[in-house]
Amino acid sequence: MDASDRQALIAALDWQCAMGADEALLDAPQDRTLAAPPPRRAPATPALLAPALLAPAPGAAASLAAGAATLEALRAALEGFDGSPLRETATRMVFSDGVPGAPVMVVGEAPGADEDRQGKPFVGVSGQLLDRMFASIGLSRAEQLYLANVLPWRPPGNRTPGDAEVALFLPFLRRHVALARPRVLVLAGNVPAKALLGTREGITRLRGKWTQVETDDGQVIPVLPVFHPAYLLRNPLAKREAWADLLSLKRRLKDGGIVAT
Ligand code: URA
Repeated sequence: MDASDRQALIAALDWQCAMGADEALLDAPQDRTLAAPPPRRAPATPALLAPALLAPAPGAAASLAAGAATLEALRAALEGFDGSPLRETATRMVFSDGVPGAPVMVVGEAPGADEDRQGKPFVGVSGQLLDRMFASIGLSRAEQLYLANVLPWRPPGNRTPGDAEVALFLPFLRRHVALARPRVLVLAGNVPAKALLGTREGITRLRGKWTQVETDDGQVIPVLPVFHPAYLLRNPLAKREAWADLLSLKRRLKDGGIVAT
């Protein structure tokens, strides 16, 4: 192979990654440029071809979520919920990490490639930044933090979750918050902020302003929307506001006698 072949192959790989084809799904590569392509595998379930037909009856997610009396039962209910084709392309379900019942619950958007591989939220590069941010005010996922996402399955190519996907999983997320019973909820980025606050306002306006959510079982939980760490990696100047938000969280935890950080 000469240098230009090599460059062309690297450019083709780059293009595939940019299009979202960044995971190997088969053990052996398939040459799709062959004149007579090999016979296609049948899809794992018809959900890939006809998601609408297999979509659950309206309210199925809500009643499954409401029926979960513990976090473990909620995890099992989500594992069994086949109303989203995202589960066909994802590798693992990502439910949570950190300490169940911790005083601070952080909600992100959706698993990325690293989370999909490990089955835990916020373990990639942006998760490492998130850990450093919380460590700077004395909080860690080994003690004071509990982490989850709006979507439990990775959207292919890390695309932003669509409104319908968010709405589908919202009953599970609301139940997740109710069962985790955090003293404070931190919403990282646009997707969780819009989902749980029911607003169309963007995170730039929402961040740093304390508000609250009421769970279906009547808990009123203080909420702080903040920038998503992936946004901070792309926009380092916004770390100034992120730091102000962390200090505001620290003060709230201290003044409320919740965590002495
Ligand atoms: N981004 C998120 O919003 N959640 C994760 O778990 C990882 C990256």
